[in-house]
Amino acid sequence: MRVALLTISDRVARGEAEDLSGPALARVVQEQPEGAVVLQATVPDERPLIEATLIRWSDSGQVDLILTTGGTGFAPRDVTPEATLAVIDRAAPGLAEAMRAASLRVTPHALLSRAVAGLRGQTLIVNLPGSPKAAAENLAVILPALPHAVELLRQGSPQSVYQHARPGEHGMTEAS
Ligand code: MTE
Repeated sequence: MRVALLTISDRVARGEAEDLSGPALARVVQEQPEGAVVLQATVPDERPLIEATLIRWSDSGQVDLILTTGGTGFAPRDVTPEATLAVIDRAAPGLAEAMRAASLRVTPHALLSRAVAGLRGQTLIVNLPGSPKAAAENLAVILPALPHAVELLRQGSPQSVYQHARPGEHGMTEAS
């Protein structure tokens, strides 16, 4: 599982704060049997920069999973969900639903995360909250489902499956 980590924070991008969440997530990923962090970066809470990074990484063909951390709350500069929704082809709401439900047992503030998840081509993008503790807790919730998610995505995008499928496969029948 090739993972890219994107820390989204004005303060970290300006050098006023240390990135603690990116390294915390990297440790969790590297503890997984097939987990490898292949890209890591920090951007400020600016939609164009977030979107450009998500697009570049997804379309590189070198990343199965992008984990973002930060910018999911209610603060005026929190735009990570909007940037993510702008670049995904298909939503994957179950991941964010499960993270919020599980996090609600930890803190009522879990309801303040507007995190989303979705697919761009063969890459899964998942928003995580900004604090290292919250990011790690949320990742732990979805971790068991990620290997199968990546396995399914590697089978190809819906379009390529359709184009390359032989008649009779994937429920298709020959046109008459
Ligand atoms: N989820 C878990 N598991 N643990 C937490 O401490 N913090 C919450 C929430 N989700 C938290 C959590 C808080 S305080 C906020 S404001 C939202 O995530 C959004 O965080 P963000 O703005 O840093 O992205």
